[in-house]
Amino acid sequence: MNVQLSLAAAASVAADALVIPVFEGDLPTALHPWIAELEASGEFSGKPAELSIIPQPTGFAAKRLVLAGAGKLDKFTGAEARKLAGSVVRALKARSIKSIAFVTEAGHLGVAVEGAILGDWEADVHKLNKDSKHLETFIAVVPEGAPTLEAALDRARIIAEAQNFARDLANEPGNLLTPNVLAARARAMSATYGLDCEVLDEDRMRQLGFGSLLGVAQGSAEPPTFMVIRYTPAAPVEGVHLALVGKAVTFDTGGISIKPSEGMEQMKYDMCGGAAALGAMQAIAQLKPAIPVTAFIPSVENMPGSRAQRPGDIVKSLAGKTVEVLNTDAEGRLILIDAMTWAIRQGATHLVDAATLTGAIGVALGAVNAGAFSNDQPLLDRVLTASKKQGEKMWPMPMDDEYKELLKCAYADMPNISGGRAGGAITAAKFLEEWTEGKPWVHLDIASMAWMTDAKPFLSKGPTGFGVRTFVDLALHW
Ligand code: BES
Ligand code: MN
Ligand code: ZN
Repeated sequence: MNVQLSLAAAASVAADALVIPVFEGDLPTALHPWIAELEASGEFSGKPAELSIIPQPTGFAAKRLVLAGAGKLDKFTGAEARKLAGSVVRALKARSIKSIAFVTEAGHLGVAVEGAILGDWEADVHKLNKDSKHLETFIAVVPEGAPTLEAALDRARIIAEAQNFARDLANEPGNLLTPNVLAARARAMSATYGLDCEVLDEDRMRQLGFGSLLGVAQGSAEPPTFMVIRYTPAAPVEGVHLALVGKAVTFDTGGISIKPSEGMEQMKYDMCGGAAALGAMQAIAQLKPAIPVTAFIPSVENMPGSRAQRPGDIVKSLAGKTVEVLNTDAEGRLILIDAMTWAIRQGATHLVDAATLTGAIGVALGAVNAGAFSNDQPLLDRVLTASKKQGEKMWPMPMDDEYKELLKCAYADMPNISGGRAGGAITAAKFLEEWTEGKPWVHLDIASMAWMTDAKPFLSKGPTGFGVRTFVDLALHW
């Protein structure tokens, strides 16, 4: 999709549709005689999701004038503006409209562009008979704007395209995206955007002692990979090195503690934490924050089989602590702890991980908020501020030590699960915390946010790319 900025008067911009967001009770009746008619009849009042199309409007260069309900003015945040642009794009492209000129105020230009690019994305690469439609051109029209807005437009395009890159990765099924394929995609992205990409293979991880990660990987014919992608600014800020750690299980059968077959196909998206970290690095490489940022992405396939790890197996993590694997389906935390240890050894001062870690987080928070767990209030505040600005909702979760007491182990230093299901997302976080070595750390459990089983008006169903924007914002506004 081609994205442009226009500073011209709205009436003079040529497009299939000129879209004017309209707040409730604030109809622009002077624009066109038909608008007063719409208001009087009650057909259009500016409520969210309302759309009204006026064809061949006299006095306009565009073929259609489209009024888009923006809801109440005092509720119209950046997040709402992003959704509005996405909803408009999805609704109009479904009617085969190819070019949209979208009128926005300067302050919402970026979110409008993001919403449009995210709204245009479809999970259709593997459909030979594609029935989905795409927009060709999106023109952000800012009549009172200045040419400096080009920078805001570029930033928004970079971020939204990075998020779509994460969605492309997440959309690939387990047979087509193995840990090696993911590493190849990471290498290609890094080469394109000038990032340093190192991939540790199985032998190297064995030499180094990634025992916890390798225990998960051993059941699969697909070898594991561990991606380390570095962004180093020209003049780095001293004393801080942000690590983005992302779980990338390319398929999670559960292993010997096998999952029920119903819904198992969804476990191809168990690499969304890693995809979010990769997407964020793609944007970070272009937007160049002042702090060094490194992504650490452990990738495995979790399979049952004659070589698979057994319940009761004891593995030695990279940090030296032993873990009793009571449930092979609690594999995400097993690969993350070795990644966290490696990140700390590579000089990371702050760790933020994203992982589709537990079904329990969806029980606690539904598909509205990701869970945010931390050992450090200032870092948590930074992450929550970024999340709020970016409209990626996250909710802080408790980390009381009483939860750690549920992780009792007779035969090793730690069990990988607690005795019961109670507080499952929290006990998983308490397990991870044992590998932070006191470094400020935030864990984002994105299991219920990374994939939407139903489409939203502003986003297709499937992978969401959740976390990319928060990661990028965190790095840019450190
Ligand atoms: N990948 C799953 C978590 C998950 C569930 C992600 C649903 C997305 C949607 C994770 O590896 C897992 O299997 N977790 C177990 C933990 C349990 C064995 C303690 C779970 O949530 O059931
Ligand atoms: Mn699992
Ligand atoms: Zn998993």
